[in-house]
Amino acid sequence: MSRPRIALIASEIEPFAKTGGLADMVGSFSHALVKLGRRPTLFLPKYTSISARYLGEAQGETCVSAGGRRFAVKIFSGKNPAGAELYLFEIPGLFDRPGLYGESSGDFSDNCLRFTVFCRAVLEWIRFQGNPYEILHCHDWQTALIPIYLKTWLGQDPAFTQSRCLLTLHNMAYQGNFPREEFPTLGLEDRYFHPDWLEFYQKFSLLKGGIVTADALTTVSPTYAREILDSELGFGMQGVLERRRDRLAGILNGIDEEEWDPGRSPDLPFHYSADSLHGKAACKAALQRELGLPEAPKRPLFGTISRLVDQKGIDLLLEAFEKSPELDFQWALLGQGEARFETGLRRLAEKMPERVALRLGYDAGLSQRLTAGADFLAMPSRFEPCGYNQLYALRYGTLPIVHGIGGLKDSVRDLKQHPEDGTGFVLESLGGDTLREGLRRAAELFRRKDALEGARRRAMAADFTWKYSARQYLDLYERMLGEPPWRPAPPDLQPSP
Ligand code: ADP
Ligand code: GLC
Repeated sequence: MSRPRIALIASEIEPFAKTGGLADMVGSFSHALVKLGRRPTLFLPKYTSISARYLGEAQGETCVSAGGRRFAVKIFSGKNPAGAELYLFEIPGLFDRPGLYGESSGDFSDNCLRFTVFCRAVLEWIRFQGNPYEILHCHDWQTALIPIYLKTWLGQDPAFTQSRCLLTLHNMAYQGNFPREEFPTLGLEDRYFHPDWLEFYQKFSLLKGGIVTADALTTVSPTYAREILDSELGFGMQGVLERRRDRLAGILNGIDEEEWDPGRSPDLPFHYSADSLHGKAACKAALQRELGLPEAPKRPLFGTISRLVDQKGIDLLLEAFEKSPELDFQWALLGQGEARFETGLRRLAEKMPERVALRLGYDAGLSQRLTAGADFLAMPSRFEPCGYNQLYALRYGTLPIVHGIGGLKDSVRDLKQHPEDGTGFVLESLGGDTLREGLRRAAELFRRKDALEGARRRAMAADFTWKYSARQYLDLYERMLGEPPWRPAPPDLQPSP
C-alpha cells in the first residue's frame, strides 16, 4: 500500500501557538514524521497571536453554519520551519482575540462554538480539496468533533470513507463539557445527546463523544493509559474508556532533539554535553545572576517550569521548600496560572529572597536557561499524562524529582532503586513529607560529585526522542488502515430523558 496521507488536527502546535505540552507534542511529532520521510499536513486555528513570519498566502474560503450563525472561514497556508504542510483557519469573531481558550477571568464562554466551527471548517476544506487523508489524527476535546462528525452525518461521504480517525488523549481533566442548551450548536440530531454518546452527567462532553467514535485512541504514556482506565484519573470516563479498551494504546511522547540540545540551543549562554559538563556549571552561575540569586555553586539549585494549576503540585512544593531551610537550597520557578498559586509563590519569594526566585509569565528562552542551569527539576505533579519538562531536564542533565505516576514514572528511574542506572528521584506517593525527603535525597547526592556526574551523564544518554514513538504511531496507523472502520452502536431512537 502507498504511504498514507496524514492530517494532524490540533488546537495548539509549537512553534505557532502554545499553552502547554500539547503544542510540544504535535509540533515535535510532525517534525519527526518529516524526518522519517513523511509529509503530514497540520490544521490549526489562525489565532491572533501567531507570528506574521509563519503566515503564507490565502488558499481559499469555506462557509460554515453553526449556532444559528454563518461564518466565512479563510484558509491560509503557513510557513513551517519544520517542513510539514500547514493550514491556518481564519475565523472572524471567534479566533481573532488574545488567548487560545480564555483569559485570566476564565474560559471563553463561546468555546463550544469556536471549536465546532473550526472542526467543521477543517472537514469542509478537506472535502473541497478532493484529496482525502487516510489518517485524521486529532488531539483532545477541541478536535474530538472530527470523529464524531465522521460517524454521524459524514458517515457516507466519499471524502472520508477511506479515512481512519485517531484521537490522542493528552489530559482527561480537560473534557470540553458544555450545558445541554448548547447542544444545537453542534448541528447533531438530538438523539446523540445520549449516555452512550455525548451525554455526560446532564451536560454533553466533546471528549466523551470522541472516545466513543474514534477508530482508535492513544494516550501519551503507557502508564497513563492504565491509570485512566482503572482510577479516578479517568475523571469519570473510566466506564466509556473501558468499552474502548481494545482500541486504546499508550505511546510515550518524544522530544525535538534539535530544539532541546544543550550542545547547540541558541537560548543558552554556554553549551555542554555528557562528555563535558563544565558548560552546565557556567549556565548555573549565569542563571543565578539573571534571577538575582546569590552566585553559589555549592548550593543545590532546584528548578520548576509549570502551568500553575492544581495538577502540578505547586502547593506541595511551596510547603516542602518552606519547611526545608536546612537544605541550603535555591529554588527558581517560572510559571503562570491561577492567582492563588501566584500569591503563595510571591509570599515565599519575599520571605526568602536569597533562596527563591520567581518569574511569573511565559518565557520560552528562560525555560531553556532554567532547565540547563538548575541542578534538579522539581515536578511533583499529582497526575501527569506524559510531561515534557522532565524529558527536557533529563536531556540537559538536570535530575528530575517526580511523583511516580503517568509519564513521569515511564521516563525517570529512581536512583535508590537503581543505583547503577538511575536518572532521578521517583516518589512513590505525595503524602506526608515524601517530597521533602525527595529534595533531601537530591541535596545529598549533590554533595557527592562523582555520583552526581554519573547520574547526569546517564540522564543525558537516555533517549526520549521520537525515534521509537514515531514508529509506534506509524505502525498504529497501518494497523488502523488494515482494519474495518469502527462502527459505534447508534443511540436509541428515543432521546434520553
Ligand atoms: P502541560 O502540558 O500539562 O502544561 P507539559 O510538561 O507536557 O505539561 O508541557 C509544558 C510545556 O510548557 C513545556 O514545554 C514547558 O517548558 C512549557 N511551559 C510551561 N510553563 C511555561 C512558562 N511559564 N514559560 C515557558 N514555557 C513554559
Ligand atoms: C497534556 C499533559 C501533559 C502532556 C501534554 C502533551 O498537557 O498535561 O502531561 O505532556 O499534554 O501530551
